Amino acid sequence: MWYPDEGLVRFVARYLSRRIGVDSYEKKRSTQRILDAGCGHGRHIVFLAEQHFNVYGIDQSTHALGMASSWLAKRGLKASLNVGDVTRLPFRDGTFDVVISYGVMDHLKPDQASDAIEEIRRILTDGGYLYVTLRSAEDCEYGRGKRVARNTFTLQTGYEKGLVQHFYNWEEASELLRRFKLFDVECHDERFPSSFGIDKAYQQSSKGVKGRIDLSSLDLDMKYSRWHIAAEKE
Ligand SMILES: C[S@@+](CC[C@H](N)C(=O)[O-])C[C@H]1O[C@@H](n2cnc3c(N)ncnc32)[C@H](O)[C@@H]1O
Repeated sequence: MWYPDEGLVRFVARYLSRRIGVDSYEKKRSTQRILDAGCGHGRHIVFLAEQHFNVYGIDQSTHALGMASSWLAKRGLKASLNVGDVTRLPFRDGTFDVVISYGVMDHLKPDQASDAIEEIRRILTDGGYLYVTLRSAEDCEYGRGKRVARNTFTLQTGYEKGLVQHFYNWEEASELLRRFKLFDVECHDERFPSSFGIDKAYQQSSKGVKGRIDLSSLDLDMKYSRWHIAAEKE
């Protein structure tokens, strides 16, 4: 939880700003403001603020925002942190050039996720970018907890107890983002043996790596699977 996700790092390096030195960046487009919708304790806010972006974060958890605030302060970085709900964003139309949202939409019921995506679209500039991740229906935890709707479960144990978890197949993911133009889509699979348990070491296998190595001889019985989608507001 203390590192930015590598999919997000790739998105930033590919489309926003590539790091070319200790504190030098090659901007790929003019980006005035970035919002992290459901920023949590701020791992992506810190990563973006280090790169001199004008970063905003919003989350419903004051506890998580407190952690983000102290992390930023300790690093001498600045960002605007807001308590709020991603389905009712307190920003004017067209405020942000980029919105990122990692691991948030899949913790909402599908109708709430639709509201949140519509809100994000509203606060993006025309041509603005959205980077969003969604837990995939291929994930090994599909079915864990109490089923509350199609592909939707309430988690009963662990650190996410009580949260809703929706697992997206491609049909649903593309429907959720139908008003955007998708320009980069990946499904990342992380494979690891169940003996490692959650949040410990795992062997990662991206789509590309899977094509080159034979995983069948390894005892990698667990698989986390997540869509990483970059999209443009048309
Ligand atoms: C799995 S965490 C991900 C945090 C962060 N994006 C990251 O990648 O580290 C999900 C976050 O979404 C927030 N969240 C869930 N529903 C929300 C809502 N309706 N409005 C705002 N934040 C929400 C939670 O408080 C939590 O911080």
